[in-house]
Amino acid sequence: MKKPEIIQLPRVLDNRGNLSFVEQSRHIPFEIRRTYWIYDVPGGEARGGHAFKRSEELIIALSGSFDVKLTNGEETLTFSLNRSYYGLYIPAGWWRTMDNFSTNSFTLVLASTPYDAEDYIRNFEQYTAWKKTQN
Ligand code: TYD
Repeated sequence: MKKPEIIQLPRVLDNRGNLSFVEQSRHIPFEIRRTYWIYDVPGGEARGGHAFKRSEELIIALSGSFDVKLTNGEETLTFSLNRSYYGLYIPAGWWRTMDNFSTNSFTLVLASTPYDAEDYIRNFEQYTAWKKTQN
């Protein structure tokens, strides 16, 4: 099973302001089929609480910070994202929760699939049952 990892994106440092970028299949191991963003998160809220059967994602804290907790049922990993040039790569099949959002956090997500409600597993017991059917 592929493991989640932090990917450092290119940084073009400039007195006029810095710039970072990401290219599919070069900086991240998938082709981008969708982007979405999360904003106006009220203090104390948590998001996620699901796994994707097929979709891979890169999550970037464009502004502010938050934590991403990941588990595959055996291993649990926590990543704190707080820099716009770090992306968290999440392979398919990991259960994720996001919390500890700072005020005015702005999250960008790049995904390998179009939106598909059928790709979600939103119940942890169903997730562990599904995991057992995977290699
Ligand atoms: P969800 O993925 O559950 O949000 P999070 O993981 O951040 O808590 O999505 C919330 C709602 O938005 C859900 O009803 C599905 C809808 N949605 C789309 O319609 N298209 C999308 O690309 C995404 C990511 C979500």
